[in-house]
Amino acid sequence: MKIIETVSAMQAWSRAARAAGQRVGFVPTMGYLHEGHLSLVREAKRRAEVCVVSIYVNPTQFGPKEDLSKYPRDFDRDRKLCESVGVDVIFAPTNEEMWGKNGVGSSTWVEAAAVSERWEGASRPGHFRGVCTVVAKLFNIVLPDVACFGQKDAQQCAVLRRMVRDLNFPLEFVVCPTVREPDGLAMSSRNVYLSPTERQEALALRHSLELARRELAAGRTIDEVSAAMTSLIAGKPSARVDYIAIVDTETLLPVKRHEPGRTLVAMAVFVGKTRLIDNETF
Ligand code: PAF
Repeated sequence: MKIIETVSAMQAWSRAARAAGQRVGFVPTMGYLHEGHLSLVREAKRRAEVCVVSIYVNPTQFGPKEDLSKYPRDFDRDRKLCESVGVDVIFAPTNEEMWGKNGVGSSTWVEAAAVSERWEGASRPGHFRGVCTVVAKLFNIVLPDVACFGQKDAQQCAVLRRMVRDLNFPLEFVVCPTVREPDGLAMSSRNVYLSPTERQEALALRHSLELARRELAAGRTIDEVSAAMTSLIAGKPSARVDYIAIVDTETLLPVKRHEPGRTLVAMAVFVGKTRLIDNETF
């Protein structure tokens, strides 16, 4: 497995792989890898001959009050995990390599406006502009044929899918299922911040999604489902709802009634100081 730190070396490696007839699979990450990331690597390897994982904590997607400096990092552990699942290249650039000498951020930004506005976009202003810009840059650096993302970040997937379509990135955009702990908590690098009590109470996200499934199947209105979920979460002292969105899977606009297969229930909940997200399509 190679570790590449420069843009030019990464582009050269991918061009050579493609010239040799190999499809390049790509999994962009911010490191501190878990089974969710490894499942994306396995999917990329099923669809392409070679696989690149980027490990880069992108400052432009963090707000001024967010956890950039505290974001968990362990490159050695990530390297071993990548090796264990047969990654061919880790692309791990510095901020200077990504943004040049003028510092983090660019004067050219990429934004998928409409689908970015609500939910995560409203709670985290500028977040999706940072995500789109860095992912567009990574696509131009890694030159993938296939890129894999996790359904846990449902809105990120919708925003990036839109960007890929609008800007004609010549790649296959693949969304893979959320990977969960045995008790149902969605895997996230941020779970490491939870105290034992918070870890237990974080199950309210999963339990409220299960409740939503039952309530929708029983024909409850969207408002009733949302209220039931909110009250389940309110029963956990460390948990506070940021938003519960019951929306169309593609437009992410609120739905008035449940359409099986098209209703996305997505949520962000603070558990203690940690903000967790989860979602399911029903
Ligand atoms: O999902 C993530 O980890 C990040 O948003 C991504 C796609 C790697 C961009 O920094």
